Amino acid sequence: MSNFELKHKNASKFSEHVAYKITQCLKFLLNIFYGKKYAKRAVILETIAAVPGMVAGMFNHLKALRRMKDDDGWIRELLDEAENERMHLMIFLDIAKPSWIERSLVLLGQGVFIFVYGLIYVLSSKIAHRVVGYFEEEACKSYTEYLNKIDEGEVENVIAPKMAIDYYKLPSDAMLRDVILRIRDDEAKHRDRNHLFADAYESKNLPAHQH
Ligand SMILES: [Fe+2]
Ligand SMILES: [Fe+2]
Repeated sequence: MSNFELKHKNASKFSEHVAYKITQCLKFLLNIFYGKKYAKRAVILETIAAVPGMVAGMFNHLKALRRMKDDDGWIRELLDEAENERMHLMIFLDIAKPSWIERSLVLLGQGVFIFVYGLIYVLSSKIAHRVVGYFEEEACKSYTEYLNKIDEGEVENVIAPKMAIDYYKLPSDAMLRDVILRIRDDEAKHRDRNHLFADAYESKNLPAHQH
């Protein structure tokens, strides 16, 4: 059973305000293009969401080599996060097909985002993880709205994509709603872990890996 909870970490410190502002700017941009188009919005969201884990994983991998120090298993966790987000993308591609304009926008967006996120990570890993924490808060909200629309009958609850059934080991008659519940649980986990990573940078006490 899921113990999903919508949560928000109040921004009190300067670094938290910066991270929150960055997230709000990204959200604003996304809303201009995809206010209520949930499936398409999810496709675009996931192309971005799958970047930070890989970038953070790479920087921590290099850091472990440089410092000749164990990473307590969190490189693996960050890479797993990136892979999990990539699977979300593959699942939504079954539901919404992006146009060539959207594909070009994603291409451009990735170029900018990988550069900006990499730069933030180098300047302040704490802020970088906080950004992901806030980003995932928004993802949780967005998927909650998506679920509400399905419940209200505004969005059709189609049969779950085969890829999602395999990935989440769902029963063969699972529906889109079941899939979104699982995806939202993933986002909640990313949210909590990234806020925790940011807290840990604050206290210089990095948490151990968690499954
Ligand atoms: Fe995701
Ligand atoms: Fe996520």
